[in-house]
Amino acid sequence: MATEIITQTEGNAVTSPSPIDLPERNLPRVDSPVEEGDLKQSGTIVERPAKEENSIEQGIQAKRPEAKVRRVIDEEGGTTTASYPHYLPVWDHGEKYPPWEPFEHTEHGKDADPSFKDLLVEGTKLQHLTPTTGSEVTGVQLSKLSDAGKDQLALLVAQRKVVAFRDQDLADLPIQEALDFGGYFGRHHIHPTSGAPEGYPEIHLVYRNGGNGEFESFLANRNSSVAWHSDVTYEEQPPGTTFLIILDTPEVGGDTAFVNHVEAYNRLSPALKERLHGLTAVHSGFEQADFSRSRGGVVRREPVKNSHPLVRTHPATGEKALFVNGGFTRSIDGLKKEESDYLLKFLVDHIGRGIDYQARVRWAPKTVVVWDNRVTSHSAIVDWVTGERRHLARITPQAERPYETPYVAETK
Ligand SMILES: [Fe+2]
Repeated sequence: MATEIITQTEGNAVTSPSPIDLPERNLPRVDSPVEEGDLKQSGTIVERPAKEENSIEQGIQAKRPEAKVRRVIDEEGGTTTASYPHYLPVWDHGEKYPPWEPFEHTEHGKDADPSFKDLLVEGTKLQHLTPTTGSEVTGVQLSKLSDAGKDQLALLVAQRKVVAFRDQDLADLPIQEALDFGGYFGRHHIHPTSGAPEGYPEIHLVYRNGGNGEFESFLANRNSSVAWHSDVTYEEQPPGTTFLIILDTPEVGGDTAFVNHVEAYNRLSPALKERLHGLTAVHSGFEQADFSRSRGGVVRREPVKNSHPLVRTHPATGEKALFVNGGFTRSIDGLKKEESDYLLKFLVDHIGRGIDYQARVRWAPKTVVVWDNRVTSHSAIVDWVTGERRHLARITPQAERPYETPYVAETK
């Protein structure tokens, strides 16, 4: 990031490490370094009294009386050409949240009508991007869906892994209305190191203004911007049905790619599938928090690590998926270090190279992409050099604690 690379994460923190700042595989990258990017750090933090109130249910634990607040709008000189300036990131160093408490997740896709009659209504067009992974839909307005339609949305996304909906109005609604829509699918996650629109910490922002030679600097130290990850899997209850709303996008470039972890699991030999069952792996958010602190960024909630099954079962489809990602999965419980490192490297490489079970979504104004974070990983593709802004807002409902079901021998 070269220190100039600006934010992103179709997944995570606006303040997060760059690939070049992190060691190789043994200390995996923090979420999507490319997606999360970082805002320029130098000389742009302003001081102001912290807000007194907070509307978030979890509550702000403590506020320093004079907390630093950093705003992109200030860094852009007080004016901006952003299409949605109220969505520009703000980091309030006084914002602190207590640890998450477990909650009971309701999986709306589980009993949804598989005919999708309340979602894919007359006039809707659905096209698959690849046979196994990814679809594109026109003719549906997500914000207008009935509860039955939302249930079917959760199921469709679980089946297709990622679905791009065109011509959406979520970005144009008041932020709270967009949050109310997304809150149907689970408790809103608040990212520990992310900037957010002022007053809406549940919104995770992906932001890159594309200027100042940031890409040249970024790619000077690595060969590719691809950084596969699933979002915040260190949480006890990581996200499920997840939404990314485009606000500004390059005309060409800045696509997001997705990998289907169900298909990645299906490609393994029966012998390896059987061996992976019963194993758990550690997912950690500590490196992300450390990185943010080291760069003067915020840490809004103290980091956690959790062990999750290597093979998880989706509650709506019953499908099994590899639950491993290069962003946060650190080690396999019960294995010695070399064993763990080699097996994790194989699994992460297997996921990353499977272009025959990946899909690439091209952004366009008013597109909303919905993916199931339980059964996918994703990466932004940093390939445009035009200086165009890339700005997205993520709504991140948390889901169930990952669980596994017994291995079932395959019939020949
Ligand atoms: Fe991400």
